[in-house]
Amino acid sequence: MFGKKKDTPKIDPEQLRLIKNAEKRIKQKKGLFNHFVIFLIGSVALIIANTLLGIGKDIQFFEKDWFVYAIIIWALLFLYHIFKVFVTNQFMSKEWEQNELHRLVNKQQEKINSLQKEVEKRTPLPQPNKTVKTNQPKSPHMECTMIVATSENNVIGKDNQLIWHLSDDLKRFKSLTNGHHIIMGRKTFESFPKPLPNRTHIVITRQDDYQAPEGVIVVNSLDSALNAVKNDDQPYIIGGGEIYKQGLEVATKIELTRVHADFEGDTYFPELNKDIWKEIDNSFHKKDDKHDYEFSFITYVRK
Ligand SMILES: NC(=O)c1ccc[n+]([C@@H]2O[C@H](COP(=O)([O-])OP(=O)(O)OC[C@H]3O[C@@H](n4cnc5c(N)ncnc54)[C@H](OP(=O)(O)O)[C@@H]3O)[C@@H](O)[C@H]2O)c1
Repeated sequence: MFGKKKDTPKIDPEQLRLIKNAEKRIKQKKGLFNHFVIFLIGSVALIIANTLLGIGKDIQFFEKDWFVYAIIIWALLFLYHIFKVFVTNQFMSKEWEQNELHRLVNKQQEKINSLQKEVEKRTPLPQPNKTVKTNQPKSPHMECTMIVATSENNVIGKDNQLIWHLSDDLKRFKSLTNGHHIIMGRKTFESFPKPLPNRTHIVITRQDDYQAPEGVIVVNSLDSALNAVKNDDQPYIIGGGEIYKQGLEVATKIELTRVHADFEGDTYFPELNKDIWKEIDNSFHKKDDKHDYEFSFITYVRK
């Protein structure tokens, strides 16, 4: 009771910024409403001034009383005010709201992951029994698709780079993963010049202090990565070799681009076990101006 130090509430600066912006927005809308009320009162006052009090009774333009023009000009100014608040106000546009939401969700996710790490450290989760063989994925409650492009001899990369450039394959990757979470190993992440737009990146590393750009979620295991994407109904595992190997155990679907040629490389996609994976779609793509090799888009699902 006595001498007890009062707790100072700690507000995340990010949330403080959001609150400040929300306050600004309320102020703007209030300003617009006040303008509307003043406009109504002002218009009535102008009409009374002219018709009842006779102010400027003889002033007319194009056979109309002056107050008509005054009200029209004021109405135009009021419309401009509405336009400024709702249309040109870029800093709080729909896109801005989406970005803010995205940032906030990622921040919360990072917090959840660090708490989860803490819990895992204190109470290690029981290891799954490695001798049990099953066709069922380890996480049967969720859809998880691996997306990969591989040569006939299962090569997927060399010197931490892709080997071929197939424009339609990149387009397909882009359209499938757009708006979703993409799970990848640290090396694959580092092979990108910058994070891919409109996707949430989950990077797996064993390093505790791995620094990644804002918005990128860093985790220490594939399990944590899957936890981080629980709210996405279609997350993607996008490589590379090490992560594909582990991902085979949890994936429910594979979107595979088979490049019909052999390549030399240093990273491989595992051979698919046909007892587990069933081909459900296959479309062939010829060689052309934009594509140096023939390839096929093949979809597999877990049997
Ligand atoms: N063709 C395709 O479709 C495709 C797609 C993606 C990538 N690629 C290619 O694949 C190559 C990269 O593959 P990669 O096998 O070398 O690397 P990778 O799988 O992208 O990343 C490996 C890294 O992931 C982390 N990691 C792996 N397993 C982990 C675990 N269980 N727990 C915690 N961290 C774990 C480790 O990071 P730390 O070392 O930081 O601990 C490890 O060094 C590149 O050539 C790339 O171009 C090809």
